[in-house]
Amino acid sequence: EKGGWSSFMAKEIDEDPIAVENTLRGRIVDGRVELSELAALDETYFREIDRVVIIACGTASYAGMVGSYALEAWARFPVTVELAHEFRYRNPVLNERTLIISISQSGETMDTLMAVRYARERGAKTVSICNTQGATIPRESDAVLYTHAGPEVAVASTKAFLAQITALYLFGLHAGRIRETLDESYERELVAEFQTVPDKIRTVLESRPRIHELANWMADTRSVLFLGRHVGYPIALEGALKLKEIAYIHAEGFAAGELKHGPIALIDHGQPVFVVVPSPRHDDSLHPKVVSNIQEIRARGARVLAICEQGDAAVLPFADEVIAFPPTDHFFEPLLAVVPLQSFALELSTAKGLDVDQPRNLAKSVTVE
Ligand code: F6R
Repeated sequence: EKGGWSSFMAKEIDEDPIAVENTLRGRIVDGRVELSELAALDETYFREIDRVVIIACGTASYAGMVGSYALEAWARFPVTVELAHEFRYRNPVLNERTLIISISQSGETMDTLMAVRYARERGAKTVSICNTQGATIPRESDAVLYTHAGPEVAVASTKAFLAQITALYLFGLHAGRIRETLDESYERELVAEFQTVPDKIRTVLESRPRIHELANWMADTRSVLFLGRHVGYPIALEGALKLKEIAYIHAEGFAAGELKHGPIALIDHGQPVFVVVPSPRHDDSLHPKVVSNIQEIRARGARVLAICEQGDAAVLPFADEVIAFPPTDHFFEPLLAVVPLQSFALELSTAKGLDVDQPRNLAKSVTVE
């Protein structure tokens, strides 16, 4: 039931915070992550894993990309993310030390299921991240980490995406502890910060009226670009996918560093560009690089819509619009930054008078290859 909401998608975006909260619930014990559902993979195995391959499609693959940065940083696995439908056809190198993590909201996506089967037959272990109890993919995996986003009805995935990132991060923290690759005090800091994320998402949701206005002004827009870097890169891809799916607008996401290797040629007067800006507090020098990208596109006439940390003074002079999120650890920024992009797609679809929940040509669960 969609209750008082205008669409299931609107309701499900409002459930972003609770999806994260419920996926964390019961999995943090004394300030550290414990995933009893992974007991089938013992500690020796965790130490022996020499490669992780995340397989998924669409939005779930972008959750996989976000998670890949954390798994690599925290558990020091080499991680790649593969689209499930490409994976099987490249004759991938797999063995018993390869861990496959599949991600699927429905647990029934045929491409993902076939990739899991393929990997298992070749000796890899499989963990599935799934939102649907008892679905086919979790039944065919060695272990399951359920996301607890609740049923997702709108065709465009929203709250499940946040829950998938949450589950991957839990996996990364769990693996980092076992593999002793994560400093304990940093681990505890991350876990404590993680628990504040749902409330920070609630703060970000307050930007909804502003996004409504923005989308109304932009109802005639024919193309929107999205830029991001590091964990913000998959968020740019996800922002673009949402807009294609439900607003039927040409949209593309790019890694900000890739701009000068081609896409900057697309920038023309008035071209709207969403930029996901990392916090200036991180000591990784990404912030000034993204700010200089903003300056480059602004100088070429782009209309810059910045999603940045509250009070980010370096962005203000160059942005036509600023949507701010509260300060958090770098890894948690995607869980905040994606929310306005989901709302933007919803509002633009609504402004165009389209069916938000049932976009043309799409099905909620793709059970054919
Ligand atoms: C995007 C969307 C799709 C799904 C993809 C995978 O909004 O809904 O891209 O994410 O089809 O579906 P699941 O997660 O059910 O395997």
